[in-house]
Amino acid sequence: MFNKRTKIKALLSTEPANQEIIVMGWVRSFRNNQFIALNDGSTNNNIQVVAALGLLDDATVKRITTGASLKVTGELIASMGKGQKVEIKANTLEILGDSDAEKYPLQPKKHSLEFLREIAHLRFRTNTFGSVFRLRHSLAFAVHQFFNEKGFIYLHTPIITSSDAEGAGEMFRVTTLPFDNAPRNEDGSVNFKEDFFGKSTNLTVSGQLEGELGAMAFSEIYTFGPTFRAENSNTARHLAEFWMIEPEMAFHDIEDNMNLAEEFIQYLIRYAMKNNMEDLEFLDARLAEEEKQKPQNDRAELGLLDKLKFVVDNQFERITYTEAIQILLDSPHYKKKKFKYDVSWGIDMQSEHERYLVEKHFKKPVIVTGYPASIKAFYMRMNDGCEPGKETVAAMDILAPGIGEIVGGSQREERLEVLEARMAAMHIPLEEMSWYLDTRRFGSVPHAGFGLGFERMVQFVTGMTNIRDVIAFARTPKNCEF
Ligand code: 4AD
Ligand code: MG
Repeated sequence: MFNKRTKIKALLSTEPANQEIIVMGWVRSFRNNQFIALNDGSTNNNIQVVAALGLLDDATVKRITTGASLKVTGELIASMGKGQKVEIKANTLEILGDSDAEKYPLQPKKHSLEFLREIAHLRFRTNTFGSVFRLRHSLAFAVHQFFNEKGFIYLHTPIITSSDAEGAGEMFRVTTLPFDNAPRNEDGSVNFKEDFFGKSTNLTVSGQLEGELGAMAFSEIYTFGPTFRAENSNTARHLAEFWMIEPEMAFHDIEDNMNLAEEFIQYLIRYAMKNNMEDLEFLDARLAEEEKQKPQNDRAELGLLDKLKFVVDNQFERITYTEAIQILLDSPHYKKKKFKYDVSWGIDMQSEHERYLVEKHFKKPVIVTGYPASIKAFYMRMNDGCEPGKETVAAMDILAPGIGEIVGGSQREERLEVLEARMAAMHIPLEEMSWYLDTRRFGSVPHAGFGLGFERMVQFVTGMTNIRDVIAFARTPKNCEF
């Protein structure tokens, strides 16, 4: 059987007793024609394979190059060398795949993240990306565990839809019509009746609306899938294709929603700290190194692990949008005119404002509620008793240090007439959304939900500053490689 091998992670914690083992992996380095550092992706720690002089012929020795793949049989023995408890005394060594040392882009030295982004197909083989993607896996697993423990139903909402959940118009169209010769209506507009689905369709920006339908039967559901936004934002926090987790809960108000979101984020971090400490320690050291390159003033106050511990041990700050605006207006930063964008009640806070609140003012995650209705989506519940002209909705955004907005959510408008009026005012066609409005017609209940941007969460836990470095193959404006 080809695959009768032991993973390196397991070997490294096995007591050596000269037992016969088989190991397979990729060469990270080879020195003195004897010592091979072998890695199989199960951990950043390589196992040392010792090929005694004379065991291999010269031709084979030459083929042991960085990146080559090997199958080794040998004995697991106690290591004399420093830095490892065990090593493998090779009995046989087979080259599974050669790797031309001259051409292999990953040399045993430090490469910049920018360079590694260009060779994203190989970067999984570095320590940094090994740690990031093992953590990403763990966090995804923890998402399902969290909701499963709470009895939520995992609902797979569609990728192709005919509605714009966020009403922001940032959608990628899905069509099979020929774009240079599309069928036209009499008025010259494209005739989507002739399109594949007989109507205009797009990639989903959010599974929320379909999620609400599920919550109206199962009480509590969550989605976890890819979402797509054609927003032209070339930042370290935006992707055109990102993964989102969207729980939706019947019989929940905005406060229940905040409590769940806070508990969820803390659970994910705790899970990573319990199961991925080795990778977190590696990334903690990596970040500390990166921070050293920055001017003193720009450095984060806490290292990665200290930050994560702090976040699980302390409650998030909770403030209203109105309070947030007042804090910004009262800040020395504002008075010294250091914000690029102006501050006044009614603005959609820019990331510089959000980061000031969390990084400078509160120094912890902050949940902001009660946003102006004019800057939020149609489905959010109108707050009662607002001053005319200062209408707010029961929205909540969670802002995290170093990230900015990590969660967006709200209590939903469950009152049919209020919702219809809001949709009409925002020019959302009521007939086309009749399926959505049915939830308000037949047994409507107070309900709430939120969306956690998975990559932003992975950024927060790994300390990676660019979102392109926490997704395998990033899709951003003018970039769709691999
Ligand atoms: O705030 P957003 O747009 O909210 C929604 O989509 C709601 N339907 C969620 C809900 O209530 N069920 O997006 C939610 C989160 C943001 O807070 C952010 O973390 C992430 O999704 N996000 C992005 N992540 C990466 N790249 C982008 N372009 C993102 N846009 C939003
Ligand atoms: Mg948002």
